[in-house]
Amino acid sequence: MNSIKRDKITGLIGQNIQGSLSPQIHNYLANIMGQKYHYFLFDIEPEELKKAVESIKTLDIRGVNVTIPYKKDVIQYLDLLDQRVKKIGAVNTIVNEKDKLVGYNTDLDGFDEMAYSKGITFDHKKVVLLGAGGAARAIMYYLKDQNIDQIYLSNRTMSKAEQVKNDFNELIDNISIVKWDSEEKESAVKESDIIINATPLGMENRHEEQSPVKLESINEEQILIDLVYNPRVTKFLSFGQKRNAKIVSGIEMLVYQAVGSFELWTNEEVEYHVIDELIKNL
Ligand SMILES: NC(=O)c1ccc[n+]([C@@H]2O[C@H](COP(=O)([O-])OP(=O)(O)OC[C@H]3O[C@@H](n4cnc5c(N)ncnc54)[C@H](OP(=O)(O)O)[C@@H]3O)[C@@H](O)[C@H]2O)c1
Repeated sequence: MNSIKRDKITGLIGQNIQGSLSPQIHNYLANIMGQKYHYFLFDIEPEELKKAVESIKTLDIRGVNVTIPYKKDVIQYLDLLDQRVKKIGAVNTIVNEKDKLVGYNTDLDGFDEMAYSKGITFDHKKVVLLGAGGAARAIMYYLKDQNIDQIYLSNRTMSKAEQVKNDFNELIDNISIVKWDSEEKESAVKESDIIINATPLGMENRHEEQSPVKLESINEEQILIDLVYNPRVTKFLSFGQKRNAKIVSGIEMLVYQAVGSFELWTNEEVEYHVIDELIKNL
């Protein structure tokens, strides 16, 4: 199919994604950057994943984002992987590069940019990471270069936390696993500087009334980072507000990971003032 001078199609592959903010973000970026890119939601069932990925080539789609629950499963259908993806084991962006599908992870860049823009440093800090899915693995990859003192890793399914620990053991010293729903976890939270929620707990319409940690474990010296962005102030972050801790919503990371994907598809750099404006308007 001839793609020259044609408008470009991009989108999001996932399940139950009707509430996604990604179309709004990407169509805003395309508009402001003068790019003829259009972003669509492809809400598919698990058995349709292979065909959906194949159709990227067939329909000459420029690329897609990938979200829950397909970030891991999609890897088997791609032609090439970015080096970092091989370690992270999750893809959130596919680029159709001359009919080769290349997998990237811009959640990693999104987290990095969010931390940088908020002035959050991890040097010699103790960190609690809640979750052991694709997003948590991208954060582990980021943390390997941050000279942290200690990571406490906690996940509902213990075996997945153990898998993450095994995969990153050689890159990060001092990873300790603490049991989900345990006093040990609350103690780890109490003594840590930065607490990161990489689970859907707190998310609107699903787990809105839930926090992955208790209010009593939070203090004003801490930084709470939530990857959930809807609502902006989750239960977890509301605990931070009550305790006068610093809180960061997932909206920042969401925008930065989207910018990362947009830049891969368009080969254009998005300036910071555009990103700031976008975050303010969401
Ligand atoms: N702001 C952003 O840019 C951004 C980017 C990526 C992800 N996220 C958000 O981060 C969260 C995780 O995403 P992901 O890509 O890592 O998903 P994922 O690979 O499916 O992993 C989900 C993680 O959440 C845990 N979890 C799910 N339901 C739970 C529950 N009811 N109680 C306790 N733990 C639960 C899972 O634990 P088990 O192993 O026990 O199932 C797993 O560790 C999602 O809410 C996603 O929307 C935000």
